[in-house]
Amino acid sequence: MGKALQLTRVRAGYGPTVVLEDVDLSLSEHGSLAVLGRNGVGKTTLLATIMGHTTFHAGSIEYQERPIMRLPVYERSRLGIGYVPQTRDVFPSLSVEENLRVAALPGRWTVERVYELFPRLAERRRHMGNQISGGEQQMLAIGRALMGSPSLLLLDEPLEGLAPMIVDVLLKVVQRLIREEALAVILVEQSAKLALGVATEALVLSRGRVIHHGPSAELLADPARLTNLVVAG
Ligand SMILES: Nc1ncnc2c1ncn2[C@@H]1O[C@H](COP(=O)(O)OP(=O)(O)OP(=O)(O)O)[C@@H](O)[C@H]1O
Ligand SMILES: [Mg+2]
Repeated sequence: MGKALQLTRVRAGYGPTVVLEDVDLSLSEHGSLAVLGRNGVGKTTLLATIMGHTTFHAGSIEYQERPIMRLPVYERSRLGIGYVPQTRDVFPSLSVEENLRVAALPGRWTVERVYELFPRLAERRRHMGNQISGGEQQMLAIGRALMGSPSLLLLDEPLEGLAPMIVDVLLKVVQRLIREEALAVILVEQSAKLALGVATEALVLSRGRVIHHGPSAELLADPARLTNLVVAG
């Protein structure tokens, strides 16, 4: 199977400040990867670097076996990388439906398909981006990314601060995107248990470095090791 993404010895950060050091990461086509680690270890910086929002210092990033680390953000999204930032970017003064329509790129996703995935958004289609709940905003942020018809989806803590019922809905959707839509997904998540239940591979960061990269099942089967890596890491 081909590779969706390959990072080799990536060093990146903000201006001269280096946050990620020597980061290697590999994700197969249709693969799913949970990125774990405590606050401030560089999880957001990792996704932002894949998307092109940080200062790239060294190493390589290959998407579908082609180097992308010198490409501007819009070209990476045009090639099929979708990004849902931790800040859940939706336009507050556009309606739910307009938010979806302005994000559209040619491809297999349509507003109707997003509504089918999130019936809640269909009910809210005429509400403004700032008139919907946090959970609905997260659904909309994911819907917006899907409207670009990505083959790789980067999700930065999509479950953060949401009620258990909404967390359930979102987890099922992410699972469906991986299993039925064959998207490659990188999921950054504070709750290791939830993330490892969804993604088949796991990567743990500590102070900008990868301290573990392997099958999720391995970590799920060894809670002591998981705690040690994620909490003490
Ligand atoms: N725009 C920025 N400019 C300079 N430094 C930054 C910037 N954003 C983040 N950092 C620093 O980079 C490091 C990694 O931050 P990052 O946001 O990637 O961590 P994180 O793992 O996503 O944390 P959290 O779990 O809180 O979301 C931190 O030391 C942070 O202070
Ligand atoms: Mg973060």
